Amino acid sequence: MDYRIALVYSSTQGQTKKIAERIGGRLEEAGCSVEWINAGELQHQLDLSVYDGVIVGSAIYAGRITRPIYRFVRHQLDGLRRLPTALFSVGMLAALESDQEETTTDHIVSDFLDEMKWEPTMVESFAGAIPFTEYGFFRRWLMKWMVRRRTGEKIDASRDYEYTDWEQVDSFADRYLSRVREMAGSGKEAR
Ligand SMILES: Cc1cc2nc3c(=O)[nH]c(=O)nc-3n(C[C@H](O)[C@H](O)[C@H](O)COP(=O)(O)O)c2cc1C
Repeated sequence: MDYRIALVYSSTQGQTKKIAERIGGRLEEAGCSVEWINAGELQHQLDLSVYDGVIVGSAIYAGRITRPIYRFVRHQLDGLRRLPTALFSVGMLAALESDQEETTTDHIVSDFLDEMKWEPTMVESFAGAIPFTEYGFFRRWLMKWMVRRRTGEKIDASRDYEYTDWEQVDSFADRYLSRVREMAGSGKEAR
C-alpha cells in the first residue's frame, strides 16, 4: 500500500533538512508518497487527516527544540495523536561524550514532550553537524567553547564536521514504516 507521509522539519543550518530528505527518500523508495514541510514557513494549520503518518524533525539550539516545532506540535496536537508519529531531534551534543547528564538530548526531548503532552509512536535523536566554515565569529567561538566544555578537548575550527550516522537514519526510516504498516493493518489509533 502507498502511504502518504508528512515530514515536518525545522533546520537553520541544513543538517536536519538533509536528514529529513534522507528519511523521506527512503520512504519513497519503499513506495510511500512523501511531503516535506518546512515548519518555519508554515502559514496555516495543516489538515493532518489526509496523511497516514507524520514525522517531525527539529534541530536543537541552546538546549531547546526550535520554536517552529513548538508552534507546529502545539497547534496540531489533536491530529498528531490520531496518527503514527515520530519525533527526531538533531544536535551535536548527542555526538560528544560527556558525563554532564543534565544537558543530554534525552532530557531536552522529554521536557519538550512533557510540555506538549505528546507521546509520539517513536522518538529518536541523531547527531548533527558543526559547519564551522559557515559560522560567523560569534557562533564559531561559541561552538568551540561548547565542544571544549563538553569533551575537554580543543577542536580545529577551520573545517566542517558531520557526525550523523546515516545507517541509524535509514534504520529509523525502516522501523517507522513498519510501525505505520502495523498500525494501518490493525486499524488502531496511534495513542
Ligand atoms: C548557537 C548554537 C547552539 C547550539 N546548541 C546546541 C545544543 O544546545 N544542543 C545540541 O545538541 N546541539 C546544539 N547545537 C548544534 C546544532 O544542533 C547542530 O549543529 C545541528 O546539526 C544543527 O541542525 P541544523 O543544521 O538543521 O540547523 C548548537 C549549534 C549552534 C550554532
